[in-house]
Amino acid sequence: MSTLYARDEAAVAGIEKLRFFPLEVVSGSGSTLVTPDGRELLDLSATWTASGLGHGHPAIVEAVSRAVRTAPGSGGLSAVHPDSVGLAEDLLALVPGTGERRVYLGHAGSDANDVALRACRHATGRRTVLAFEHSYHGGVGVAMGVSGVHVDAGVPADPDAVFIPYPNPFRPGADGLDADVAACLATAEQHLAGGSIACLIVEPILSDGGLVVPPDGFLARLHDLCRAHGVPMICDEVKMGLGRPGTLHAFEHDGVVPEIVTFGKVLGGGLPLSAAVGPAEILDHPPAAALLTTAGNPVCAAAGRAVLATIVGDQLADRAAEVGALLSNALRGLAGSPGADRIGDVRGRGLAIGVELVDPATGDRDPRLAAQVVYRAWELGAVVYYVGGNVLEITPPLVLTEAEAIRGAEILGAAIADAAAGRVDAEEVAKYAGW
Ligand SMILES: Cc1ncc(COP(=O)(O)O)c(C=O)c1O
Repeated sequence: MSTLYARDEAAVAGIEKLRFFPLEVVSGSGSTLVTPDGRELLDLSATWTASGLGHGHPAIVEAVSRAVRTAPGSGGLSAVHPDSVGLAEDLLALVPGTGERRVYLGHAGSDANDVALRACRHATGRRTVLAFEHSYHGGVGVAMGVSGVHVDAGVPADPDAVFIPYPNPFRPGADGLDADVAACLATAEQHLAGGSIACLIVEPILSDGGLVVPPDGFLARLHDLCRAHGVPMICDEVKMGLGRPGTLHAFEHDGVVPEIVTFGKVLGGGLPLSAAVGPAEILDHPPAAALLTTAGNPVCAAAGRAVLATIVGDQLADRAAEVGALLSNALRGLAGSPGADRIGDVRGRGLAIGVELVDPATGDRDPRLAAQVVYRAWELGAVVYYVGGNVLEITPPLVLTEAEAIRGAEILGAAIADAAAGRVDAEEVAKYAGW
């Protein structure tokens, strides 16, 4: 273990770590990360999508440098600044919706969801939050308590959360996917009709739960039910939104217009920034109930405006669709090569791709293999993590080039082959607990 990694272990709190291999980085450019000893790694995660525009994007560098030089303080709490107001206006223009709407500006996906959930409880006077099993909405507060992934890991659920199953096309129940969808919607309707639901919160693509793309029309049918019972839907676009799925918003795929949409990760281009966009009657109340001193600060707001302008101006959603198709096809093209019988499924939209690793004999999930594959990929020169226990989550920067996509698929193919053949040091891998 290097000195830097050992210093981290001695100094930085374990409560905020999720480690898969001893990754050390000192700089980055585009889709490349650079280690202290000068090794270049292909970034197939984009910091769990937070570096979605790539590392050191000139538009962000320019915007942040200007803002830092001129920043008149650090927050929207008790003052207004053109960039924080401008960012809220940009979001209102980019997110579909009707009526009078507002934008909450925050620091992380966690607080955007937390605030949206609490505001819905306040506005409706109801407590229960309808959420999904294996979902992820945050690492603190109410957002954590309604996250199925945390509950799976033993964190106490929010006492007023109700979890329903998310249909998984690759692993349908005994009666098939249509029956799963029907059962899920029937359960949702039963709860929605009961009169105690404050809101429903949903990921348009279940991400940390295993990069599960729901069947077409699922989100629309769910939203129809919410509307029929007057329950606001919070669509959590924190990880999958803003260009990555090949559309600006992931919910566009189903043609829905959710009442509240939350953003984070790529919105700040690597800086802490999040947002919730929704009805004024929900997000305006109660006043002064979500106070973070540096929320809406000019530096992060400037980064957010540059990110949105770049995604739209450079047509990065279209690009994600094209390069994502190339990368998915290259991954599917691994079929027949050594170790490829361990690939149970390649799925996704745009540059959000999941590769499910299985035991070829049984089709069961193979989490041990997933841990070894991401470790081996790091040794071979790529950064990628897994979700849902056994699914490689491939979410590179939206600026990934075609050549990088092909190289990424080659590295992943080699990593899977090596791990399947037992060429990865299991003892070394075991030092990094992962999820
Ligand atoms: C869908 C989703 N929502 C919310 C969050 C929380 O975002 P943050 O970690 O920035 O607080 C995450 C983080 O992984 C996420 O994937």
